[in-house]
Amino acid sequence: MKSSFRCLVLCGVFATVCLVSAVKIVDKVDCPCSKQSLCQPVNITYEKEIFVFSVGGKDWAKYDWSLITTVAMFGDYDPGLMCQAHSAGARVVLKGLPPVSNLSDPSARKAWIDQQIALAQKQYMDGINIDTEDALNSSEAVYLTKLVAEARDAFHKAIPHSQVSFDVAWSPDCIDGRCYDYPGLAKASDLLFVMSYDEQGQILEGPCIAKANSPYKKTATGVQGFLDMGIPAQKLVLGVPWYGYDYPCVSLSEDGVCTIPFHPYRGVNCSDAAGSQKCYNVILDLIETMEITPSWNDTYKAPYFTYFNESKQEFHQVWYDNPVSLTYRYKYAKDKGFLGVGMWEADCLDYSPAGAAASQAMWNAFNSFL
Ligand SMILES: *[C@@H]1O[C@H](CO)[C@@H](O)[C@H](O)[C@H]1NC(C)=O
Ligand SMILES: *[C@@H]1O[C@H](CO)[C@@H](O)[C@H](O)[C@H]1NC(C)=O
Ligand SMILES: *[C@@H]1O[C@H](CO)[C@@H](O)[C@H](O)[C@H]1NC(C)=O
Ligand SMILES: *[C@@H]1O[C@H](CO)[C@@H](O)[C@H](O)[C@H]1NC(C)=O
Ligand SMILES: *[C@@H]1O[C@H](CO)[C@@H](O)[C@H](O)[C@H]1NC(C)=O
Ligand SMILES: *[C@@H]1O[C@H](CO)[C@@H](O)[C@H](O)[C@H]1NC(C)=O
Repeated sequence: MKSSFRCLVLCGVFATVCLVSAVKIVDKVDCPCSKQSLCQPVNITYEKEIFVFSVGGKDWAKYDWSLITTVAMFGDYDPGLMCQAHSAGARVVLKGLPPVSNLSDPSARKAWIDQQIALAQKQYMDGINIDTEDALNSSEAVYLTKLVAEARDAFHKAIPHSQVSFDVAWSPDCIDGRCYDYPGLAKASDLLFVMSYDEQGQILEGPCIAKANSPYKKTATGVQGFLDMGIPAQKLVLGVPWYGYDYPCVSLSEDGVCTIPFHPYRGVNCSDAAGSQKCYNVILDLIETMEITPSWNDTYKAPYFTYFNESKQEFHQVWYDNPVSLTYRYKYAKDKGFLGVGMWEADCLDYSPAGAAASQAMWNAFNSFL
């Protein structure tokens, strides 16, 4: 209201100023939120981050917004989610898939960054989460670091207090061929989201068997690798899985070890790609319908169970995470002084009244980090 009034006054004085202002006002009228202020970028600095991935649908209305500080919108743009995040003081960031094949071309990098900023501004967003999981060698990786640094500088300039984050694998050790410059990426971005899951993407040692998605020790050793490179814990967000893997067993030993089929993945024969990913809510449904009592593996600090699929006539073993296993990991992140914790992904829960209690327990587990 105030600015339209000002425009009317200016209108009488300078016709050109009025034209320019009118264009800006049209933009502002586009704000989809109930209050204009909700279209402002979030300017709060959080000492601890709870970083959430949202993949689509309307379940975001049921997220625990008292905890969330950043939500990465990986589904289609949803203005309702943006308004909700802002009303809770949470940043909402773009999904950024960089032009990997053209990274060494400065004009291609700039074109991509300009495009992302324009999109973020149009959608009243607070930054970008850059996600590329392509295999790159060290000479190509130099340009990835450049892109992230350029994106950070440009975003910070265009959108005050905006956040530029980058997703890294569970360990800096060239996981799945991702030989990125991790210390460089940490310097170039506001935070690194460590994807401490899919840790069996390449099973290099031992028998080809079903294992936890995010085994406790492997997770800790992996993130320690980033710290050992001199990356400050205050740059790291420990990302945990809200999904598990359901593996078919080619054989099941007496003590319950499930041998899984060979499945090549980036040069290795044994991989979690032999299994299928299942969201936590789907796993809970399976436990309920099949009346399963899950077991606990104390080596991995993770729950699991085995069931028999009648129609396929085969055993399956499911490894997943629950509030108990996640609490171990959140406490670890807290002890190490990490900037934050987060998950892939927030829509893996049943937010209906029947599932509400189990879902809230997953959110509550974040409190062990705070
Ligand atoms: C932060 O944002 C709020 C709401 O948009 C605004 O009222 C306040 O002036 C801003 N503070 C700073 C330091 O930018
Ligand atoms: C890479 O650059 C070429 C030439 O400029 C362009 O045609 C192509 O679309 C670009 N690819 C990506 C993924 O940006
Ligand atoms: C990295 O990969 C690129 C493209 O595949 C190739 O041209 C280059 O020679 C490789 N560099 C090294 C150091 O392996
Ligand atoms: C956990 O599972 C792995 C793989 O099946 C097995 O090697 C290990 O002995 C188990 N740990 C415990 C404590 O049962
Ligand atoms: C993968 O399996 C093939 C065929 O069984 C074998 O020839 C090859 O050596 C294996 N590769 C690795 C990396 O184990
Ligand atoms: C068992 O396998 C069938 C056939 O693939 C599938 O439709 C069904 O969902 C499976 N059952 C369970 C409990 O996963």
